[in-house]
Amino acid sequence: MTLTEAALSRSQFTLSKNDTDLLLQADYQHLTHAWPVFRSKVNEDALLISGGAGARVFDASGRQYLDGMGGLWCVNMGYGRDEICDAVASQLRIMPYYSPADGLAHAPGVKLAEKIASLAPGDLNHVFFTCGGSTANDSALRFIEFYQSIRGKPQKRLVITRQRAYHGSTIMTASMGGNPAERSPHLRFVMDNFRQVSCPNPYRRPEGMSEEAFCDFLVDELRSKILDLGADNIAAFFAEPILGAGGVIVPPEGYNRRTWEVCREFDILYVADEVVTAFGRLGHFFASKEVFGTEPDMIVFAKGVTSGYQPLGGFIYSDAIHATLVAANYPYPLSNGYTYSAHPGACAAGLANIALMENEHICAHVRMEGAHFERRMKELADIGIVGEVRGSHFMIGIECVKDKDTKEPFDPSISVGDIVARHAGELGLIVRPLGSMIILSPPLVLSRGEIDEFARLLRLAILRCQEELVRDEKWGLASSDHVKS
Ligand SMILES: Cc1ncc(COP(=O)(O)O)c(C=O)c1O
Repeated sequence: MTLTEAALSRSQFTLSKNDTDLLLQADYQHLTHAWPVFRSKVNEDALLISGGAGARVFDASGRQYLDGMGGLWCVNMGYGRDEICDAVASQLRIMPYYSPADGLAHAPGVKLAEKIASLAPGDLNHVFFTCGGSTANDSALRFIEFYQSIRGKPQKRLVITRQRAYHGSTIMTASMGGNPAERSPHLRFVMDNFRQVSCPNPYRRPEGMSEEAFCDFLVDELRSKILDLGADNIAAFFAEPILGAGGVIVPPEGYNRRTWEVCREFDILYVADEVVTAFGRLGHFFASKEVFGTEPDMIVFAKGVTSGYQPLGGFIYSDAIHATLVAANYPYPLSNGYTYSAHPGACAAGLANIALMENEHICAHVRMEGAHFERRMKELADIGIVGEVRGSHFMIGIECVKDKDTKEPFDPSISVGDIVARHAGELGLIVRPLGSMIILSPPLVLSRGEIDEFARLLRLAILRCQEELVRDEKWGLASSDHVKS
């Protein structure tokens, strides 16, 4: 029996129509979701996901979908992994919880920190656990402020981030981010300490500029920003190696390394936000050194560390930072931590997940099959409305445009991504819409056959979207040349 058949045979995946309707009614009445839209009636299109196996999930009616989102960039080892579930259950029976505060320790927390340190590049040997990616970036900010002050440089408070970055959803991390779609006019942001530089998006570089010249421009811009603000006032630079939620933006060749070098030159901490790129998505436990040739002072992680089976995040920092803090001999604590920092169940999930990744050689699988996924997705660039397919391995973004030659975007009111996602859903594939883009980050366990099925379904969904746009006169090129099957 395959994993999928085994999962399908478990009756808990299906609910009667009546039970489904009741749940959706209660959902409307009582559950305010993450990123909520305040509706005036039940969302009849809501998908009630009730189970999963491998790279597939099932809705309440038992319909199955290839999960192009890996939950939310996180179910790296796929659904139905008993090894992780059993490890969590057994840890909860032994010791479900105890305070994570200084002076107390528990085995799963210590073992996971030790394991992560062994996988991290360079001298990153110290792990601070939080409850997810936002709290990890938030804590990293506070940790850095504390560190700069303790080492006698309290004026080093400014943090540089990039436009279209996403670092989380707490008030501080939302303020660090630069995604215009996230900047609601009804919310305030705390911008005092944040300064931004350009988004390193080669697709949207100035007309006529080569990618090399664009990279020079970006590096020069960072250098000028530092000189303008004064290096003595800048604590850190935060960067996702590939920007995720901002639209899967792969910076120009050499950009990550060169910006890292600039930070070193000016004594500015380089923080790689690897919440998405770590734990296998690009074929390595951490992408910073192996893929981009950087050795950050800190790496932020979350999501794939437990494959989403338990909420957990954190950051890893260097021996050099640790040594400075120890040498200062400061008698008071850094006042930052959470009740559920290093939760024993979450740490047990992390340990079991990493063991599974190693036993199944998932990084090698991603380097081989993720490269195939990237190739198959890039073939979709021949479709009329597809302006660019970008990304790496199992982290891909597809940007649809009104005019391929001029890169003219669709009017945002058309929400092309939503149309593609609707057609994909009808075909049994879940993708994440983002304006005119489609974001893909499937479980890393996707097989060759599933990748090819994924490519076939997504091509069909984009073509159906294109036909719908032609029919509704929202896309001008009705010629059949543009409708390749
Ligand atoms: C790069 C990056 N950093 C931070 C976060 C925030 O993580 P969380 O949603 O676990 O708080 C995300 C979430 O998508 C992310 O993509």
